[in-house]
Amino acid sequence: MKVINNLSELITELNNSTKDDYAAIGTRLEIPIAQLQSYAHWNSNFYTRNCIERTDHYELILLCWESGQDTPVHCHGGEECWVYVMEGKLKETHIQVEENELITESIEILSKGEKSFMCDDLGYHKLENIADHRSISLHLYMDPIDTCTKFDEKLNTFEQVDLNYYSYKGQLEKALV
Ligand SMILES: [Fe+2]
Repeated sequence: MKVINNLSELITELNNSTKDDYAAIGTRLEIPIAQLQSYAHWNSNFYTRNCIERTDHYELILLCWESGQDTPVHCHGGEECWVYVMEGKLKETHIQVEENELITESIEILSKGEKSFMCDDLGYHKLENIADHRSISLHLYMDPIDTCTKFDEKLNTFEQVDLNYYSYKGQLEKALV
């Protein structure tokens, strides 16, 4: 298996691939964080979604996490997602919903260099940065996901939300800063 250790190589390969190839590409990601530093932005209040590249077929996003930041429980809009932990350590909790109850199915710890796959057939999940410092993860989505369902803990119910970028191709999105 040939690893992909270069961002431009990854984008070229994605642009020349069909959807059937994405699963293999998702498992070959070995890109050093130094190549993606210009895409990494942080916010002390929430983890950030930084779009590196987007086409009609895929979306490549760098997630930047301060220690303790986490996602809500969420689905993936019917799409597939590969996660590659580039720095730090994430806890991934897999959740099933039965009769409006959230049931934890499994918990995985993803350390630097480890990968995970998620799609709606596997239920819901949430991610949390459990490192005592920043974490960074690279996410490949097929296709782009603009809305998803997330669990609102205050309202104790799921709701549909629009997904935004904190930055796009390295530039901060003004509305969110
Ligand atoms: Fe997710």
